[in-house]
Amino acid sequence: MLLLTCLVAVLLTSESRGQAVDKTLRIDCFPEPGSSQQGCISRGCIYDTNFDQSHPTVPLCYYPSGTGYSLSSSGLANPYILNKKSDSVKNPYGADISPISVYHSNIGATLNVKIGVQGRYEPPVQFPRNPSTSSDSLRFSVSDDGNLFSFQVKRASTGTNLWDTSIGGLLFADKYIQIATHLPTDAVYGFGEAIHQSIKHDFTQYTTWAMFARDEPPDSAGQDTKNLYGVHPFYVCLEQDGNAHGVLILNSNAQEITTGMGPHLIYRTIGGNVDLYFFPGPKPEDVINQYLALIGTPALPAYWALGFQLCRYGYHNLGEMQAAVTRTQQAGIPLDVAYADIDYMDRYKDFTTGSAWSGFPQYADQLHQAGMRIILIFDPAIQADYDSFQRGISSGARFIEWARQDQVPSAINGQYPYVQGTKIMLGVVWPDKHVGFPDFLETSGNTNKWWADEFTRYHSQMGFDGIWIDMNEPSNFGTNQDHPWYYDDDDHPNIPPLFCPLTGPDSVLEVPPYQTQAVYHYGNSQLSSNTLCMSAKMGGGNYNFYDAKCLYGWSEARATRQALSQATGKRGAIISRSTFPSSGRWAGHWLGDNTARWEDLKTSVIGAMEFNLFGIPYVGSDICGFISSPTMELCLRWQQMGAFHPFSRNHNTLGTPPQDPAMWPEVAAAAKKALLMRYNYLPYLYSLHFEASLNGHTVLRPLFFEFPQDSNTHTISFQFLWGSAFMITPVLDQGATTVRGYFPNDVWYSIYDYGYATVQSPGFASLQAPITSMIPVHVRGGYILPRQGPATTTVAARQNPFELLVAIKGQPGQAQGQMYWDDGDTIADNVASLSYYKWVFQYSETSTTAQITLQRTHTANGLSIPTLDIIEMFGYNYYPDYTSFTLDGKALSINTQTSSYSAFTKRLMISTANLINLSAVNSNTPSVLTWRHGTQLLD
Ligand code: NOJ
Repeated sequence: MLLLTCLVAVLLTSESRGQAVDKTLRIDCFPEPGSSQQGCISRGCIYDTNFDQSHPTVPLCYYPSGTGYSLSSSGLANPYILNKKSDSVKNPYGADISPISVYHSNIGATLNVKIGVQGRYEPPVQFPRNPSTSSDSLRFSVSDDGNLFSFQVKRASTGTNLWDTSIGGLLFADKYIQIATHLPTDAVYGFGEAIHQSIKHDFTQYTTWAMFARDEPPDSAGQDTKNLYGVHPFYVCLEQDGNAHGVLILNSNAQEITTGMGPHLIYRTIGGNVDLYFFPGPKPEDVINQYLALIGTPALPAYWALGFQLCRYGYHNLGEMQAAVTRTQQAGIPLDVAYADIDYMDRYKDFTTGSAWSGFPQYADQLHQAGMRIILIFDPAIQADYDSFQRGISSGARFIEWARQDQVPSAINGQYPYVQGTKIMLGVVWPDKHVGFPDFLETSGNTNKWWADEFTRYHSQMGFDGIWIDMNEPSNFGTNQDHPWYYDDDDHPNIPPLFCPLTGPDSVLEVPPYQTQAVYHYGNSQLSSNTLCMSAKMGGGNYNFYDAKCLYGWSEARATRQALSQATGKRGAIISRSTFPSSGRWAGHWLGDNTARWEDLKTSVIGAMEFNLFGIPYVGSDICGFISSPTMELCLRWQQMGAFHPFSRNHNTLGTPPQDPAMWPEVAAAAKKALLMRYNYLPYLYSLHFEASLNGHTVLRPLFFEFPQDSNTHTISFQFLWGSAFMITPVLDQGATTVRGYFPNDVWYSIYDYGYATVQSPGFASLQAPITSMIPVHVRGGYILPRQGPATTTVAARQNPFELLVAIKGQPGQAQGQMYWDDGDTIADNVASLSYYKWVFQYSETSTTAQITLQRTHTANGLSIPTLDIIEMFGYNYYPDYTSFTLDGKALSINTQTSSYSAFTKRLMISTANLINLSAVNSNTPSVLTWRHGTQLLD
């Protein structure tokens, strides 16, 4: 009855205005606070007076159905010229721009649709824009039904509509652009950086996600739509039939999306143009491959950067750092990298070492001798009165500036002789005095050269191997606040904060007509909160901070890659807090200031998968939680899960007790066990990174990437895969001793404590996982995984013999795999030109013989490598004849003492010292390892 009343009411409203829209398909006409019936009507929109309690997110004020533009008779072909429809609602946030144009073009199989006006700001990201390939293609078409322009993007093979803007709502003003589309399904993944409680977006209600780089810690306690440090306007969508496509909306202004019940999507931005890229897939992994052809493939981390890393904020001195490292080593926990946070600096100034850290360079040498590495933090903001800053000024480096000299606050800038005569905008971060923000977007090259020279100079004093860039949204403390938080902090002097022109003629960029949820989410907030003024200038004066600020971390990562190469002459690794599409070319990412809570452990599983979609596969969370203190059990479970994230680092905040794994015997034991397994399979993980960097792929994947036809996988948020073949089912709940996992219809072999080498039946299953065991890890039949005996550093592990795990599938059995190998630390700006090995492995069998072919398809010069000594086989259904082994026709003697076969588990272990010299196997026709076996065993 209630439903009927509501329906009648809506219909009545619709009758009165003639253009009502169903609850499920609305485009909010009052997305900012303060919506009212009167305000709504005065915008020319429709107000629904019937609040639907069961759907409280349905917009009550919404655009009439015919809102938009129509095709102009002078532009009926590409580019299409659109005029604002005369009978359409006006843009509520500024004068409608008319005409606008719509232009489509192809970059290989990728379709680009650009809507806007030439000459407007565009993000200066210089993507490689390589043509993509696909087995499918996309078709672009337009329609002008009812005088309302719309366009459709269809999959050529099936005719599925991937985008269809006939839902209306296109608006284009200088500072408010809106476009909406129907979606083929609600299986949408991505958009970031935000905390998502499930990997698949929820379309059962309307949800708006802000995208604006901001120093904002994730909050995983419940649904929170706020934007975090980076911006990724990219999603992958699965169609009804399991085909996948992706869409990038290339824009660096403050922007947001609303997912609606249609399912539909509403996109809003407050500057630039709408620059859409459609990637046809049809497999999810193809989508990422096509996306990375456009934006660039990810940086290859140094091999050592895949080792475990130990960090914390709040080591009072070098001794505390040494103690944590020693504790970890003494517990036998693999450890490759020791970190120092801002504590090591002299009063938080980059490129300085504090007095409590005077022995740091010697300690770095000592760690290097033990095969370990050091990563140091560097913040972008440079104190305005010391030699690094002075060298910047005198070498012509640029800093972010005020637009005009008369805006410069003399009370602040007057204190700093080096900024005299400049327009440098000074802010406040960790250092005791005001700071300037290097302008990494300016094109003279002076800023990036100065930046690289500062790293090089500091490296000659302190031998670091990798760089951690933080606070690069960029973060600025206390903007516009009379009493910033640091006034109450003993470790920070009360220097005046930055004030932006929030009123008057200079406020047009500070307080635009629509400010996005990046502001409204917080109540009393501005776009400049926690950052610099929107009216600041960057890019050598060419860009407003309003437009390009979300590229700050991106541009710093690019400059820092150059700096790391110049300073160290090695590949190393960089992690960056703020990221944008294509940041992955230079840096990885950690998921920011999480909290030691179970909820945060859970969302970090999703976050790491999302960043693989975004082209930043080198990603992980602060293991055991950054803010507050974990319980033993939480830290243990986090160490176990984090051992399987590409970037694996335990990190903790100021003033909390140490939480390195050796602090609890149980955590130490679990971390050791999980990390030894990680180190065992590092050749596989490294090969995935190599493949990702060389050809454009993910490293870590959601299950639906491999099994898109299986709808059960579409909502699996808490299991993940390394590549195609290695599945991790982490324990994420307090007190759990079992974990529920899903096994898509395939062959899965256990490689953890329970049922090692045996098959796990497909479907949902409850798996044993007490804290004394590993979390469940399974390998997929049909694959050969390279590995190596583990050790407590990657340097030591790399000396151990190689091994192959052959996970057999089918009847007759088969499997295949590959391995990449290089020295692991040569600069890899161009991965293809590295000196590297690649092998391809293939297993096949007949009723009487088994064979593994090994082919060297790429060869490194002068790189000596360990031999292949172990081949472990799962699902091998025969008694092997150890006397029959040959390699390329020559007899191979197998050590029967160390080799074994179990007819019960169907596991064959061939273990013989110096079994195969991988650097000598054939490169043209593969080398063949073969042996005979007895008749097949009954299952
Ligand atoms: C904020 C970073 O997110 C955190 O990881 C770091 O410890 C602090 N800044 C101090 O540098």
